[in-house]
Amino acid sequence: MVEGPPMTVDTFQRVVKTLGDSTRLRLLALLERQELSVADLVKLLDLPQSTVSRHLAHLKEQGLLSERRDGAFCYSRFTPPSDGAWGDGWLLARGSLRDDPQIAADAEALDALLRARTLGSREFFDSLGAEWDRLRKVFQDDLQRARAIGRLVPRGLTIADVGTGTGVLAMEMAQLGMRVIAIDQSEAMLASADAKRAALKDPDRVELRHGAATDLPLRDGEVDAVLAHMVLHYVPSPRDAIAELARVVRPGGRIVLVDFTAPEDRPQPDREWLQKDLGVIWQGFAIARVREWLERAGLRNVEIELHESSSDDRDLPATFIACADRPADPLT
Ligand SMILES: C[S@@+](CC[C@H](N)C(=O)[O-])C[C@H]1O[C@@H](n2cnc3c(N)ncnc32)[C@H](O)[C@@H]1O
Repeated sequence: MVEGPPMTVDTFQRVVKTLGDSTRLRLLALLERQELSVADLVKLLDLPQSTVSRHLAHLKEQGLLSERRDGAFCYSRFTPPSDGAWGDGWLLARGSLRDDPQIAADAEALDALLRARTLGSREFFDSLGAEWDRLRKVFQDDLQRARAIGRLVPRGLTIADVGTGTGVLAMEMAQLGMRVIAIDQSEAMLASADAKRAALKDPDRVELRHGAATDLPLRDGEVDAVLAHMVLHYVPSPRDAIAELARVVRPGGRIVLVDFTAPEDRPQPDREWLQKDLGVIWQGFAIARVREWLERAGLRNVEIELHESSSDDRDLPATFIACADRPADPLT
C-alpha cells in the first residue's frame, strides 16, 4: 500500500480539485481495477484522445499513477494511497461512486473489453490447435522447459548417478538444483565428467566417486534417489547391481533405471555390433526379469515403460524406463 502526504490546506485543495472532476474520477475508477493504455481509455470513456491524455497528465503530476511500457504501448495504473490526504479523499470519492450509473457503465465497458481480449486469445489458439507445436519452436525453450519442470522437484535432493560416464545427466540434474553423487568405475570417464563439473555455475553440486555398481561407494540409505542410465547392460551381474542400488537409496526413496530391452515374446536379431562397437555385455533385458530383480531387491511400486528406438540409421533395441520405490519401512 502506498502512503500519501498528510492533510494540509494545500493538499486538501489539490485533492478536492483533482477528485472534483468527473472524467478524472472515471479514469481513476477504471485504472484502479486494471492497467490500461491511452487507446483503451479513449475507447472506454468515448472521449477524444487529447482529453484523456490531459487528464492522465494531471493525475500523473499528482503522483497518483504508475506507468509501465509494453512494446509501443504505455499502460497506466492507479494504486490508491493507503492513508493521508489522497487516501482519505479517494475513500470518500469511491464510496460516492458506488451507485453512479456512468461509473457502472464504464465498469461494464471494461468487462466487455477484457472479455473480448480473452476471446481473442482463445480464438487465436483455437485456430491453431496442433499447429502451435510448429509455431512455438520460435522460443527455442528446451532448456527453459527442463528447468521449469525441475523446479517441481523438491530442492536439495541427493541423487546417485551410477555409471555416470562423462556426466551428461549428472550435470543436467545439478543444473536443475539437485545434489549429485556421480559414480563410475572408469577413471577416464570420471576425468571427463570432472571437466564438465568444473564448468558448472555451482560445481559443488556434483561430487565424483570412483566405484562399481555392485559395490557402491555409498552408505546404506545415503541418497534420495538413484539413476542408472544405460549402465546395466555393461554390468556382468545386473541382479546384484539392482540389489546394491536398493541398499543405498533411503527408505521412501526411488530408483530409476533406463536400459535396452529384449522382449521375450518376439525373436530379437543378434545385434553383434553392440558388443563390437559399444562394448556391451548384454543386448537387453526382458521386462519380466527386470521387474523380478527390482522386487527381489525389496522395492515396491514397480513401473516399467517401453520406448521403441527412434534411431533411423542404427538397429537399436527398444529401451525401458523402470521406476521403483524403496518402502518407507526398513527393507525386509
Ligand atoms: C554408456 S555409458 C552411460 C553413461 C551415462 N549414464 C549416460 O547415460 O550418459 C556407461 C557407463 O557405465 C560405466 N560402467 C559400466 N559398468 C559399470 C560398473 N559395473 N560400475 C560402475 N560403472 C560402470 C562405464 O564406465 C560408462 O561410463
